[in-house]
Amino acid sequence: MPDIPNGLDRYAHICGWGTAVPNNILTNAELSKMVDTTDEWIMNRTGIKQRYIANDKETTASLGVKAAKSALDTANISPNDLDLIIVATSTPEHHFPSTASLIQDKLGASKAGAFDMGAACTGFVYALTVASQIIQSGSMNTVLIIGSETLSKIVNWEDRSTCVLFGDGAGAFVLQGSKVPGGVLTSVLRSDGSGGDLLKVPAGGSAMPACYDSLRDNLHTITMNGREVFRFATRVMADACREVVSEAGMTLDDIDFIVPHQANVRIIEAAARNLDLPLDMFIMNIDKYGNTSAASIPLALCEAVSDNRIKPYNNLIFVAFGGGLTWGATLVTWDVTKTTSQNQVWHKLRRQALYRVARIRSAIRRGTRTIEGALWGEEEVADK
Ligand code: ACO
Repeated sequence: MPDIPNGLDRYAHICGWGTAVPNNILTNAELSKMVDTTDEWIMNRTGIKQRYIANDKETTASLGVKAAKSALDTANISPNDLDLIIVATSTPEHHFPSTASLIQDKLGASKAGAFDMGAACTGFVYALTVASQIIQSGSMNTVLIIGSETLSKIVNWEDRSTCVLFGDGAGAFVLQGSKVPGGVLTSVLRSDGSGGDLLKVPAGGSAMPACYDSLRDNLHTITMNGREVFRFATRVMADACREVVSEAGMTLDDIDFIVPHQANVRIIEAAARNLDLPLDMFIMNIDKYGNTSAASIPLALCEAVSDNRIKPYNNLIFVAFGGGLTWGATLVTWDVTKTTSQNQVWHKLRRQALYRVARIRSAIRRGTRTIEGALWGEEEVADK
């Protein structure tokens, strides 16, 4: 195990991980029948071959719940152990309630707080940083973070410059505190709001509430200045990696893998050149998923863990950039291994029972609230 150059006496370890994607795949060939594009153009400019697209019933919360259940299985803990749920997303179910609260209800995580994190494609790195620091402070012990997106629902399917880029999916980590050194070591979070216009969904917020004109002009969908975002991304990815290793008192030679936000292969190649690192140090799976925003880092990480590329005690950098503009990086020692035991099978069955109980409890609470409101609601308000 490596020396941990960090003055902490409490550490946040990633002890569970999982992903979920919709059933439907949309290939470049299929896209080229919808807009004026080709498989060759998309592959050459982005490295994307296909992406998963949610159907009407698949939402940010439903994908997030699936990824969360899988992460709880890997961690082999009960939803009742969770102290907090953070959902990083740019495609929440609603302005409110938060997607995190909806997922908390579905999991039956009855002791957990829940909130959404809005930092666009950097959201997962922000969530990982916040979760690990809450754990390191000692105020909470077990935190679930989820990056979940259904970007296909806010893409303009007539705009070939953006619709070829994005896909849907979710990934989740469970973090737990311990005195054993390791886990999440250092983080760098940055923002430059002067670039907010480069990547945005113009309407639907307080600046431009939904109205006839906003719907007619397609202003509820993603708009992007691709070239400027590209230039910004190649610069900040390298800077953030350098800063996060230097903060940990390490150098890039101490790093085994970099798990970058999967926006464009060419951006990742430029970052590798800028850092003077071999491209095979960068985990990439954008060809299968497209850009899944806050879900892209856990989707890439989980794939590399399941095919045994990432080994125990590897040092990893998670690095991302996105709307805001925002960017950030986190340095993690991957000090966990997945174990299987009979005990684990029993715990999984117990978790499945708890999810069923959660569904029934939620339905009973809704029903009780309706009945109480009808019977006593007006009297109680009048008394006050
Ligand atoms: N198919 C065919 N031609 C296209 C397509 C398409 N899908 N899209 C654009 N073109 C055309 C353009 O119209 C333009 O034609 P013109 O020269 O006749 O005007 C030509 O291709 C070149 O367009 P550019 O925009 O200059 O192409 P570029 O090489 O910059 O690639 C891309 C575009 C892939 C979007 C690139 O700029 C990029 O990856 N930028 C970063 C995008 C990104 O990372 N976004 C997400 C970041 S944050 C987040 O993840 C939410």
